[in-house]
Amino acid sequence: MKFFVDTADTADIRELAATGLLDGVTTNPTLIHKSGRKFMEVVEEICGIVDGPVSAEVVALDHETMMKEAEILRKIADNVCIKVPLTIDGLKTCKALTDEGTLVNVTLCFSANQALLAAKAGASFISPFVGRHDDNGFDGLKLIEDIRLIYDNYQFDTEILAASLRHPIHVLECAKIGADVITAPPAVIKMLSKHVLTDKGLEGFAADWAKTGQTIL
Ligand code: E4P
Repeated sequence: MKFFVDTADTADIRELAATGLLDGVTTNPTLIHKSGRKFMEVVEEICGIVDGPVSAEVVALDHETMMKEAEILRKIADNVCIKVPLTIDGLKTCKALTDEGTLVNVTLCFSANQALLAAKAGASFISPFVGRHDDNGFDGLKLIEDIRLIYDNYQFDTEILAASLRHPIHVLECAKIGADVITAPPAVIKMLSKHVLTDKGLEGFAADWAKTGQTIL
């Protein structure tokens, strides 16, 4: 399973990239706003930090303008992945861009039927929003399960990029279901390494090691 980080904070991206665990980055207009930085500039910096896909989202709602925005965004770097919304215009843009060999992430997916359309439009990635689905009284993980089943039924190449993940259990369940990629905020990715018994074990080893009076270095 690939790990993308969902942020436009380049300090966090650098820190995670240094672990060697990071396969890509997802951004959205809200995360760009949060960064307080210029969109093109921050995407260019991120593309220089990670080799994998970096999702940059169009903001237009019509196909023609989406294509013009995508044209500008994909010139930033070879690893830019154009993010388009799951609308008819977004799907049309997806088809046109993927036909030209551009990576496309279809975002704001909230149903398996939407995911089916994205796959038929040739999307490189489909982003079902697990957390926002849960927030609204639906079962976000069931959505991932349904998409996995449908994509496997027809051998679609579109990768399931489980998005809007809020906690480690979401990541665990997505891994069990077989999502191809997860994207999560830096804090959630870091939380995956944590366990109270790991901390307790370390404390015990440190205390006993001190009693030996030895050093390794
Ligand atoms: C995915 O690409 C989105 O940027 C993201 O996962 C949305 O997450 P949120 O629902 O926590 O805002």
